[in-house]
Amino acid sequence: MAERPDIDLTRPSAARVYDYYLGGAHNFAVDREMARQAIGMWPELPLIMQANRAFLRRAVEFCVERGVRQFLDLGSGIPTVGNVHEVARKADPEACVVYVDNDPIAVTYSRTILGDDKQTLVVQEDLRHPERVVEDPAVRDLLDFDQPIAVMMVAVLHFVPDDDGPGDIVAAYRDAVPPGSFLVVSHATHEGQDTQADDHQDLYRQRTATPMTMRSKDQVRSLFAGYDLVEPGVVHLPLWRPASLDDVADDPMRFAGLAAVGRKA
Ligand SMILES: C[S@@+](CC[C@H](N)C(=O)[O-])C[C@H]1O[C@@H](n2cnc3c(N)ncnc32)[C@H](O)[C@@H]1O
Repeated sequence: MAERPDIDLTRPSAARVYDYYLGGAHNFAVDREMARQAIGMWPELPLIMQANRAFLRRAVEFCVERGVRQFLDLGSGIPTVGNVHEVARKADPEACVVYVDNDPIAVTYSRTILGDDKQTLVVQEDLRHPERVVEDPAVRDLLDFDQPIAVMMVAVLHFVPDDDGPGDIVAAYRDAVPPGSFLVVSHATHEGQDTQADDHQDLYRQRTATPMTMRSKDQVRSLFAGYDLVEPGVVHLPLWRPASLDDVADDPMRFAGLAAVGRKA
C-alpha cells in the first residue's frame, strides 16, 4: 500500500481488529496481535461478531420488508460478507446505501469494492458530526430525506463515549429523517457477562484510539427516544427476530451485544 499519513500502523484500529475477528484480510500485524490477545481472554469474541453481522442482515431484511429502500450505514466498517447493499438489493435492486466510516482503510476498501456503483456512496466522516453527514451534498444526491431512511448504527455507538453525547447524536439523525424511518442499533454490553467484558473494554481503552463504552439495556433503550421500539425490544443479539429458534444458541446472554430496531412515528 502507498504510504498514507492518515493510517496509523503503530496502533490497532477498531475497524481492522473487527475485520480480523470476522476472518477478513484487511488488517495489519498490530491489529492481529491485539485481536489474538482479546480472543485469548475471551474465546467467543469471533462468534459474537458473527452474531452481530447476522443481526445486521436480519434488520436490513426487516426494513426492506416494511418498504424502506434507503439506508444510512454509520460506522459501516470494512466490507465483509453480507454488506447492507447486498442484503437490501436481494429484496429490491433499486435500494440505495450511504456508507459512512471515519477509518481510512474501511473507506478505501469500501470504495474499491463498490467502484462506480451509482446506488451506493462511501463517505469518510465522523458520525459524531451528524450535520456534516446529512448536509453533505453527495449524500443528499443519493438519499431522499423526504422518504423513509433506515439509520444503521451497528456495533459503533460503544465507540462514542458518554462525554460526546451519544443520545444527542442519535437524536440529530432522527430529526433529519421523516416518519416511517427506522433506527437499527447493536451495542456492546456488560449485562449478563462476567469480567471478560470489562477486560475487553479495558483493552480497547489501552490500545486503540477509540475507547469502548459498554452500556446497559436501559441505556440502549434510551437511545430510541422518538422511535417506537419494534418487538422484541432491546435483546441480546441472537434473540432479535431469529429466522428460527434453532438459530438461537443455548445461552444467548453470552453474546455480549444488545440489538434493537425502532420506527419513527
Ligand atoms: C465494530 S465495526 C462495525 C462495522 C459494521 N457496522 C458491523 O456491524 O459489521 C465499528 C466501525 O465503526 C467505525 N467507527 C468508530 N467510531 C466512529 C465514528 N466516530 N465515526 C464513524 N465511524 C466510526 C470504525 O472505524 C469501524 O469501522
